[in-house]
This record gives sequence, structure tokens and C-alpha cells, in this order.
Amino acid sequence: MQGFRTIIEPFRIKSVEPLRLTTKEEREERLRAAGYNLFALHSEDVMVDLLTDSGTGAMSAAQWAALQRGDESYAGSPSFYRFEAAVKELFELKHVIPTHQGRAAEKILFGVAAGPGKIVPNNTHFDTTRANVEATGAKAVDLVIAEGKQPSARHPFKGNMDLARLERVLSDEGRERVPLVMVTVTNNSGGGQPVSLENLRGVREICDRHDVPLFLDACRFAENAWFIHEREPAEAGRPVKDIVREMGRLVDGMTMSAKKDGLANIGGWLALDDDAWAERARNVLILTEGFPTYGGLAGRDLDAIAQGLTEVVRHDYLRYRIRSTQYLGEAIAKLGVPIVEPVGGHAVYLDARAMLPHVPPLAYPGQAIATALYLEGGVRGCEIGTVMFGLAPDGSESPAAMDLVRLAIPRRTYTQSHIDFVVEVVERVAAGASELRGLRIVEQPAALRHFSAKFEPLS
Ligand code: F0G
Repeated sequence: MQGFRTIIEPFRIKSVEPLRLTTKEEREERLRAAGYNLFALHSEDVMVDLLTDSGTGAMSAAQWAALQRGDESYAGSPSFYRFEAAVKELFELKHVIPTHQGRAAEKILFGVAAGPGKIVPNNTHFDTTRANVEATGAKAVDLVIAEGKQPSARHPFKGNMDLARLERVLSDEGRERVPLVMVTVTNNSGGGQPVSLENLRGVREICDRHDVPLFLDACRFAENAWFIHEREPAEAGRPVKDIVREMGRLVDGMTMSAKKDGLANIGGWLALDDDAWAERARNVLILTEGFPTYGGLAGRDLDAIAQGLTEVVRHDYLRYRIRSTQYLGEAIAKLGVPIVEPVGGHAVYLDARAMLPHVPPLAYPGQAIATALYLEGGVRGCEIGTVMFGLAPDGSESPAAMDLVRLAIPRRTYTQSHIDFVVEVVERVAAGASELRGLRIVEQPAALRHFSAKFEPLS
């Protein structure tokens, strides 16, 4: 397909899932009933669902066929061995421990490795990762480079770890306090930005010098490797699978959510070299997830993941995947709507605070934009801002660093015309931005309020 302007979806559609088209009046009614919280909507009332890219992708015909091969034996299922071989084909780690999703792998890993007084550095912890580190009494520190925290700063690898700060943390605290270093690829909480291979090698070198193991939060490893293939001059032309294998050789372990780059609807794993940690992890696994050859999954899920892992590193898939995210980002930026730049791998982030300068952060500009997108066109995104991060454990409230709305793109699920429709909806919302007021919270839990708070629009 070299030389063509249009990058076509590298698949055709065999089975369709009808969308229920709603009217604005219906959506107004649904939104009111949901307390203006998009998590409370029934997904059938959403037309284009960009809430998350996690577990929402379409499986291939080969994956559906693999489900039939699934063997549901409690112990020693061939599905497990196919899954294990597929993981090891990409990541040469000794122990592969399946879990029902990524956060279960995190909970087990940090239960084994962290604890009170420990410190875990990461480029940026995803919320569940941070919560699982902190739940053990350890401290989670984010050491992404400065550019990674500025929405409009241009840098090809905004997810990179700040090596000087990592060196300082390890020199100050040492291996007694730092049980492991983690690198999240791509950096989801920082806009889906990639980490370069050079940076990962740098992290490895520092970890070696301090004798501290290095782990990947590998959820979007293939998207990250594609960015390396495209943007890192020394790696140009290198097959993505080869880049992934090097990423795997650079680390001592990984946690993974197969709901992202496993191209599956459920699943995850913890993989690691250390025998003692692996033994403890399997003991916890049996208590919480299941026997080590299924780990909370059906055999058929393990087969779907095994097949997904062969598809996700294909260049035709990744070119389409990353290009289609950029397509949405470029079209929105062209409207003059501010977004986090450059566009990351799995999502476009609207800068709601910049779109609504007249709405103060404590009137939740991100929530105002997210609800307006739903009302206007049935598009569901996710507020990542003051609603999500503004409430402190002591009950006090302050603005988050940014007020963003994430439009996350499920894998192989929507076509270009769905995306063109989303652009039109964003255009309409932006045109009416000066009319948008913020919201106030009328009911909220003590923590993780974004999932269940109820709002009322300010008049
Ligand atoms: N790490 C990262 C970087 C993630 O993005 C996620 C999930 C997890 C870990 C946890 O994996 O959901 O399988 O337990 N991210 C989803 C999202 C929920 O919408 O970004 P999980």
C-alpha cells in the first residue's frame, strides 16, 4: 500500500453489531437519568463508545476459531501451553502466570515485591498500578521527562523516563528500598506517549548498576514498538517483532493486560525470571485467581490471546492502528480544538480547560465537554481531570494538573466514517463551547468518585 494517501482498514467485516441510533431528546433524558455521569449510561444508549480501548476491540476470525480450540481442563490445558508459548515468543521470561486482567497481575506482583517503606519508580503509574503499589504501604513515584507533562510540548518519546531523576532515586534509596523499577509502555496516563528503546536501555543500565530488577507495564507494547520503528532513527526499518523481543530481553519481568495489545476482551499475565518471586506469586494466584495454568481465565480466552499476540505485531495492523488514531487527532486539531500533542497510540486527548476558559476547574470543564459530546452525538469519552483526580483523601478539593477528555479508540472496531462522525460532533461542541456552563457534584463517594458521582449542570 506504499504511495497511497488512504490507509485502508486491513480487514473486512464478517459479523456486525448494530448500533442503536438515538435522538438528542433521548440522550438528554438518558444523561439526566445517569446523573450526568457517563459511566452510569447503558452502553446501548451510546453510538460511538470511546470510553476505553480496554477489552473493547474486535477479535479476528482466527481468534474466534481459536476459541473453539480452547480446552477447559482445570490443570495442564493445551490452551495454557499455547498461551505460554505465544508470550515467550515475544518476551523471553522464565515464568508466565496468567491472570484475569492487568490489575490482578499488578496486585500479585506488588504483594510479593513491595510493602511498607518501599518505593516503586515508574515513568507514570496507571491508576490501578499506583493503587496496587500504595495498597501494600509502598510509595509510587512518577519520573517521566518534563516534556511528558506539558500537553503541547513536542517530543517523539514523551513517555521516556527521566534517567537523571531515576539515578538519584536509586542512589538515595538503594535496592533495600526500591524492589523494582517499572516502565509503562505506552505511557497511558501521560497521553499514550511512547518510550524509546534508547531510554529503556538507559533504564536497564541504571538498574544493573544498582542491582534492581526492571519490569514493564506492557499493556500497549506493540503500539510502543511501532513508534520506535517509526521515530527512532537507529531502529528504522527493524521489524516490530524484533523490537518487542529486545524490549523483552531488557527486562526481568512484566505485567500485562491482554485487553489492550493482547487483542482480547479479557485476560492478562505476570511474567518474570525470578524463581522465588514466581513461586510466591503462584501461591497467591491460587488463592485469588485460580490454578497456574488458567489464572482466572477460561481456556478459550488463553487461546484467543495466543492468537491475538501473533496479529498485534503485524506491520499492516500497526500502521493502520496508529494512523487511525492520528487521523482523528489531526482532524480535531485542524478545527482549532486544542489536544495533547503529538497524538499518542490509543487515544486523542482534548484539552477541555483550554476549550472552556470561562469554566473554572472546580466546575469540571472536562465533564462539561464529555457530557456535551454525548448529548450532541452519542459519543462517549472519559473525563481525565479534576473529577478523576481533584478529591484528596481528607475530603478537600483542588484542580487537577490538567482537565482532559480522552477519546480512546477500541481496536479494529470502528470505521473511518464513525471517526469522521466523531470529528463532526467535536466540531459542533467546540462551536457551542461559549454556551457551556460547568457542573456541580450533588453526590459522591469518598474515593474514585469519577465512577459514581452524580452531577447537575450549573445554570
Ligand atoms: N496499566 C495500564 C497502562 C493500563 O492502561 C491499564 C488499564 C492497566 C494497567 C490495568 O489493566 O484494566 O486489564 O486491569 N487501562 C484501561 C484504560 C482501564 O481505560 O486505560 P486492566
